[in-house]
Amino acid sequence: MQSVDGYVSPDGIAFCAKTVDLTSAEVSAVATFYTQYKRRPNGEYQVGVCTTALCAVMGGDEIWRQVSEKCGVGHDETTGDGKITLERIECNAACDYAPVMMVNWEFFDNMTPDRALRVVDDILEGRDVKPTRGSSKVGTFKETERVLAGFEDGRANEDQGLGDPTLAGLKIAREQGWEEKR
Ligand code: FES
Repeated sequence: MQSVDGYVSPDGIAFCAKTVDLTSAEVSAVATFYTQYKRRPNGEYQVGVCTTALCAVMGGDEIWRQVSEKCGVGHDETTGDGKITLERIECNAACDYAPVMMVNWEFFDNMTPDRALRVVDDILEGRDVKPTRGSSKVGTFKETERVLAGFEDGRANEDQGLGDPTLAGLKIAREQGWEEKR
């Protein structure tokens, strides 16, 4: 639904209910539970700033403040041109790269307010943006939703995203000869 309509639309709910033999109320119950399901037309790019504890103290709160000011919108709001829907996001298990921002669920690691504003500028001015790991270019919200629904995007297995910060603990454990106790 989101890859076609850009949100979980009333028509989409009716279509989904009919297709999988559920009531519209049952489909709506799922759609209202997960924040990833959008109930209003979403921006072309979903920009999420992690403001969970670790990212927040590493600069996420300030990034949020400046990005929100630049876009002129708050949490779960969309810019007037429909380009960006801004969201405070919970931890995305990328704390080793804090503070983290996400654009259509692609990682933008080790952000600073300036770097975050440059990404936002690029989106607002129609330039492609490239995540710090993973894919070579961030797709639109609709394109991303199609991939998340399980369809190929022709860019599978781009990168598993394991960098030095992720493996630092494992490296120390090996150097120290630590072993799992059973
Ligand atoms: S606290 Fe931000 S990714 Fe974990």
